[in-house]
Amino acid sequence: MKILVTDKIVDEGIAILRGKGYEVDTRYGMTPDELLAAVPAYDALIVRSATCVTAEVIEAAKNCKIIGRAGVTCDNIDVDAATAAGIPVCNVPTSNIVSAAEHTMALMLAAAREIPAASNSLHEGRWSRDEFMGHELFEKTLAIFGLGRIGGLVAERARAFGMRVIGYDPYCSVSRASQLGVALYDSMDEVLPVADFITVHVPRTEETHHMFSAEEFSKMKDGVVLVNTARGGIIDEAAMADFMAAGRVFACGVDMLEAEPAPETPLSEFDRAVLTPHLGANTEEAQARAGVNIARYVANGLEGLVVPTV
Ligand code: MLT
Repeated sequence: MKILVTDKIVDEGIAILRGKGYEVDTRYGMTPDELLAAVPAYDALIVRSATCVTAEVIEAAKNCKIIGRAGVTCDNIDVDAATAAGIPVCNVPTSNIVSAAEHTMALMLAAAREIPAASNSLHEGRWSRDEFMGHELFEKTLAIFGLGRIGGLVAERARAFGMRVIGYDPYCSVSRASQLGVALYDSMDEVLPVADFITVHVPRTEETHHMFSAEEFSKMKDGVVLVNTARGGIIDEAAMADFMAAGRVFACGVDMLEAEPAPETPLSEFDRAVLTPHLGANTEEAQARAGVNIARYVANGLEGLVVPTV
């Protein structure tokens, strides 16, 4: 049987599949047309977030028996179309959550202390200590939007920094929030005016598209720091740029751009916008977990064994 891998996973994952006798083709960076032309020949497909597995791709995937997503979020896969076509979709939902939570803290600290801009100034031969006056996390209020697995890990880490952690998540119970040490609020409107730092951990859906736009920014505290390691499009980047230009938003840390993989964003003109290209899951450890586990799931699926599906 043949497996097509269209986004890079670790060599160990590929070796597991080849070791079981599968023919594995790694074809990274395919265009949508190339994918459509290639996919009928394969019994399984493995992707990360870059490949869009649309309904059209699924219709073309006549021999496909399982789709593996080497990561958490499946918003690049038309899961409904796959289910209707009888193709199970599996992911590795805890593989990269620690990496994502750590990247969130890294961006929060980098934004609060202007680390990239300060580092750049030194690289450029300037010694300008007075230019960079940051903020502590200690005793500040962090609002977490979305208290799922990653939001929960961020809460634990933020509490270790001495932050007061509050949250908004209509799907989270009061008891889970209190286990996490998070004061759960009933509405965004209550949270926005009291948060010094805001971090977003919700999926990208119609409901969360531009969840933070000009109206929400106008309700935030002056000097707020925002972090988005969730998905592009949840924060309206143009609105955030306006509020940064007005000095209302002190800084931001953004790992997910709306136009990904295009690097264009109105935020790029601000030194205090710390921007990374979708690196939340990019650690040796997370990629090892994701690649190895997805390979095992896909192999099990092809062998007719039970596989946890989304
Ligand atoms: C995820 O949703 O798990 C990440 O976006 C994975 C990735 O980096 O591909």
